[in-house]
Amino acid sequence: MFSRTLRASTTATSRLSQISSHINNSAIQRRMASTTALKLNTGATIPALGFGTWQDKDDQEKGVAEALKAGYGHIDTAAIYGTEPMMHWPSAFKAGDNKFPKDANGKTETADISYIETWKAMEKLIKTGKTKAIGVSNFSKKEMEHLVKEASIPPAAHQIECHPWLQQKDFSDWHKSNGIHVQHYSPFGNQNEIYDLGKNMGKLMDDPVLVKIGKKHNKSGAQVVLAWGITRGHSVLPKSKTPARIQSNLDGDFKLNAEDMKKIESIDKKLRFNDPSGSFGYQFYTDLDGKRN
Ligand SMILES: NC(=O)c1ccc[n+]([C@@H]2O[C@H](COP(=O)([O-])OP(=O)(O)OC[C@H]3O[C@@H](n4cnc5c(N)ncnc54)[C@H](OP(=O)(O)O)[C@@H]3O)[C@@H](O)[C@H]2O)c1
Repeated sequence: MFSRTLRASTTATSRLSQISSHINNSAIQRRMASTTALKLNTGATIPALGFGTWQDKDDQEKGVAEALKAGYGHIDTAAIYGTEPMMHWPSAFKAGDNKFPKDANGKTETADISYIETWKAMEKLIKTGKTKAIGVSNFSKKEMEHLVKEASIPPAAHQIECHPWLQQKDFSDWHKSNGIHVQHYSPFGNQNEIYDLGKNMGKLMDDPVLVKIGKKHNKSGAQVVLAWGITRGHSVLPKSKTPARIQSNLDGDFKLNAEDMKKIESIDKKLRFNDPSGSFGYQFYTDLDGKRN
């Protein structure tokens, strides 16, 4: 079976330390100290507001430097984005130099290694002391239940597509009851340019419900999207290469009240933008909201 696993630890890489050596550390620490921190089941804390690095590979070094300067203390990187030397889906792809191997028809070439086997290998990384926490991405509920049953070390985090148009309330509750932290990827939904499905509809961040709530708090729709995730106790991973947006997204770290949250609940379209099942030849999200075919 193929597993679209994983984000092994967020230990600092030499790349990040090169970037951060140019930045005033005390200013970053002041800002980081003022942002919301959430607890992982390892006992460690994770900043609720993270920074995404998918797309725009060539802009990411600059983007990450901007983000660190602005005060982000949580950077979401992956080998597959070309921004990080660590593995993203360690057991799933055909072995070789190509990090994202594809056949002549453009289909992703996978390997027949179960995600449990991969997980057991990742558990060994924790024992080295170099990796502080391990987690997964893009698992279905059934896969999560299987993983939790077989694991010696439970996942610390699960990174999933989540935004006000794909709220995944039941799945989110399941994680809470199992002590697994949820991270929202593509927090702005169809703002990601490569999501074809989202092209002919308005932008999530312009949804009138979000904009109206934003006006009340003197915030933008984008900032309300981020606050919605953080109010749920999740972390959010907005990506931007634009300095002003990198800065303003940080101001999405605030709490919404119960009335705001209720209103946002009403705009859940169960609309999933990211589903590579066809190209991977593996059905993802089979028991989750927004699954298409
Ligand atoms: N595990 C997985 O399978 C997976 C899948 C998808 C994403 N991710 C992670 O999640 C991160 C975020 O997801 P994403 O990149 O799909 O999309 P996203 O963060 O929801 O949206 C990014 C887009 O929004 C724009 N944007 C950012 N802030 C904005 C603002 N304040 N106002 C208006 N537009 C704004 C960005 O434009 P500019 O850059 O031009 O400013 C970019 O086009 C990724 O970068 C990656 O780290 C993980």
